[in-house]
Amino acid sequence: MDKKLSITICASFLFISSFITGQAKDFNIASYGGKPNGDITNALTKAWTDACAATDASKILVGAGSFFMNAVNLKGPCKAPSLELQVDGIIQAPANPAQLKGADQWVKIGYVNGFTLSGKGTFDGKGPSAWKANDCAHNSKCNWPTMNFGFNFLNNSYIRGVTSKDSKNFHVNVLSCNNINFDGFNIIAPEDSPNTDGIHIGRSTGVTVANTNIATGDDCVSLGDGNKNITVVNVHCGPGHGISVGSLGRYDNEQPVTGVSVRNCTLSNTMNGVRIKTWPGTSGTITVTDMHFEDLVMDNVQNPVIIDQEYCPSNQCDKSSPSKIKISNVSFRNIRGTSQTQQGVSLICSKGVPCENVQLDNINLKFNGALISAQFSNVNPRITGVELASTST
Ligand SMILES: *[C@@H]1O[C@H](CO)[C@@H](O)[C@H](O)[C@H]1NC(C)=O
Ligand SMILES: *[C@@H]1O[C@H](CO)[C@@H](O)[C@H](O)[C@H]1NC(C)=O
Ligand SMILES: *[C@@H]1O[C@H](CO)[C@@H](O)[C@H](O)[C@H]1NC(C)=O
Ligand SMILES: *[C@@H]1O[C@H](CO)[C@@H](O)[C@H](O)[C@H]1NC(C)=O
Repeated sequence: MDKKLSITICASFLFISSFITGQAKDFNIASYGGKPNGDITNALTKAWTDACAATDASKILVGAGSFFMNAVNLKGPCKAPSLELQVDGIIQAPANPAQLKGADQWVKIGYVNGFTLSGKGTFDGKGPSAWKANDCAHNSKCNWPTMNFGFNFLNNSYIRGVTSKDSKNFHVNVLSCNNINFDGFNIIAPEDSPNTDGIHIGRSTGVTVANTNIATGDDCVSLGDGNKNITVVNVHCGPGHGISVGSLGRYDNEQPVTGVSVRNCTLSNTMNGVRIKTWPGTSGTITVTDMHFEDLVMDNVQNPVIIDQEYCPSNQCDKSSPSKIKISNVSFRNIRGTSQTQQGVSLICSKGVPCENVQLDNINLKFNGALISAQFSNVNPRITGVELASTST
């Protein structure tokens, strides 16, 4: 065999065998000076730079122990065909919001194809001092505190195992991602922590949130504009404000929302169950279609099933002009459990553009052991297998 050919065969064999055995090249932050009880901001940033520049599948390791870290902005594009960040320890953010110097996200990761965040570690956002200072409920010019995670422009990526704890603001913001999977992820913050939404997804395609526990002070999962093909499955929410599509229509230039499936989830002691909300009195005209909510258990939920096209918190809008957002092809199916209020189903659609093709099927919700009632405005749902005490319009 000629030498060149044998080298080629040998190199191919090495490449294929490392591919088959799934061996990734390791970049341990310990080799970059990252030590337990120390600050790993620089160590992680340097490990990322090397792992991203490597030509093999690469894995960055943060081992057991407790670490401090300031805001990091970890970006591709990477040469590595795949890049994993495995965190087994506890990483703590600065408790003092000022130390983050206005970073919108503490752990910002973006522009990578084939990224995985894994491990049994915890990202502790050290939220309490920021929550105390948060006046965003009544001050529209408030300074928004730092979120725990920003996943931006990621393709074909996984987030699994790790826990996001006590974020100062939203826990996770997903923006412009394609095919990203949350699996066995955990989110935890107290019920009274302001704006600590679990996972907010915007302008993304093919996002799955599966097997995840989300306990927060605000929305569990919320879906902004421009989302397509979003699946939420086997998720437990509570406490918090529930699973929400929207709010939509507050701003111009929004993009349509198409294809949302929320399946086999449990909501416990949440303010809302599943909800679609749009603002009246604005110019937003997008469509919202193909929304399916099924096999859900509501456990003591204040408002289990809602469409609200008159969403206007703190009266910040003009309710006299109806929402221009068209909602169609929506189903609520196999929903059982308990409502904290008599009106368990409330579908308030826009009088300008009524909802179309809405189905309620097999809904069995009780309020104090009795049947719930329902309100329907500007919608004529197909109803099967639903017993109601009364219906109002
Ligand atoms: C992600 O996919 C989009 C759409 O295919 C593409 O434009 C973008 O370059 C990809 N990003 C990366 C980091 O591969
Ligand atoms: C929806 O996204 C999932 C990944 O989350 C993907 O497996 C599936 O093929 C996508 N479906 C469509 C119709 O694009
Ligand atoms: C539905 O969720 C329960 C946990 O609440 C789980 O045990 C079960 O396997 C899930 N079913 C499906 C079909 O995923
Ligand atoms: C709604 O579903 C029907 C079939 O049930 C389909 O013909 C129609 O195109 C869908 N509408 C939208 C806006 O997707």
